Amino acid sequence: MILRPRRCHIFILFSFFFLSDVVHADSTFECHVQINGTKFDLTSLGGERHINRTRETPPTTRVESLRFDLCKDFTLLEGIGEHDQCPSGTRACLTEINQKPNEADRVIAVIPLAQSSNLNPIYETSLAPKHLSLLLHGANYPSSSSSPQTFNLTISCDPQGISDPIFVDYDGSRLDIEWSAPAGCPFKDEEGKEDKDKPKDDTEKEAVGSGIGWFFLVILLSFAAYLGLGAYYNYSTYGATGFDLVPHRDFWKEVPYMFSDVVSHLCSNVRPRRTSSRGGYISV
Ligand SMILES: *[C@@H]1O[C@H](CO)[C@@H](O)[C@H](O)[C@H]1NC(C)=O
Ligand SMILES: *[C@@H]1O[C@H](CO)[C@@H](O)[C@H](O)[C@H]1NC(C)=O
Ligand SMILES: *[C@@H]1O[C@H](CO)[C@@H](O)[C@H](O)[C@H]1NC(C)=O
Repeated sequence: MILRPRRCHIFILFSFFFLSDVVHADSTFECHVQINGTKFDLTSLGGERHINRTRETPPTTRVESLRFDLCKDFTLLEGIGEHDQCPSGTRACLTEINQKPNEADRVIAVIPLAQSSNLNPIYETSLAPKHLSLLLHGANYPSSSSSPQTFNLTISCDPQGISDPIFVDYDGSRLDIEWSAPAGCPFKDEEGKEDKDKPKDDTEKEAVGSGIGWFFLVILLSFAAYLGLGAYYNYSTYGATGFDLVPHRDFWKEVPYMFSDVVSHLCSNVRPRRTSSRGGYISV
């Protein structure tokens, strides 16, 4: 089998994108927080929220419009230009809009405050007053500067119900939101209960994190079992040795050729396919 290097490169590149996506998906913030054995469930705060802060700056009005979804990336808005909204993969986006009577609104800044690729959540909790502090990270804004953007959410414990989130301040780099909700209350306050629940929490977290690892392990183990049992069958039935032990030997012999066919097919989108004889050989 002859694979030309460029084709291999493209294939490796595809594999790399796939892998980096898997790693990425693994590290996203899913609204379950655990600090020193205290657990918070923020899923009730999920969903898209919208807060505006308006300031009169005659002759115009300046609206700082915040859109965020704590638990997942929000979808792009329709009917708004790509440059007038945050890119996909954003959890919190601040848009500054300038309004003037009898004129169309002008979007003057679009600031991704928290982005999935860079969330790096930092938690802080305290019991007096009971609250959870959550700091999520975004990109530099503007990207050429060294002003990292952050989204600082303080969730106070209020068993009575969820308030509306309050836009406290934005200093050009950190936007502060205050919110009170039952989700700001730690899961358990009693000491005794804590120990009992702790191991359960750990396994839960692990199960989510390594789900993808398990998937590949199962595939690998199944394949190993197939090879092992097939080899044993060939050995005991036909007394096979060496390469003849491989189950479905003729099929596996074909695999490299099929693989190269797939690769050259993928690459035919990039570059017109020239004569391709059986066996993956491509004449230069
Ligand atoms: C916030 O301001 C934007 C732009 O003016 C407007 O489209 C949106 O409806 C406002 N949202 C709220 C919740 O006031
Ligand atoms: C966890 O506990 C340690 C020791 O008690 C403390 O130093 C640390 O600040 C705690 N972490 C958080 C996030 O509260
Ligand atoms: C987050 O905002 C609160 C006020 O809303 C402030 O007290 C706290 O220091 C801020 N956290 C950080 C990390 O700056």
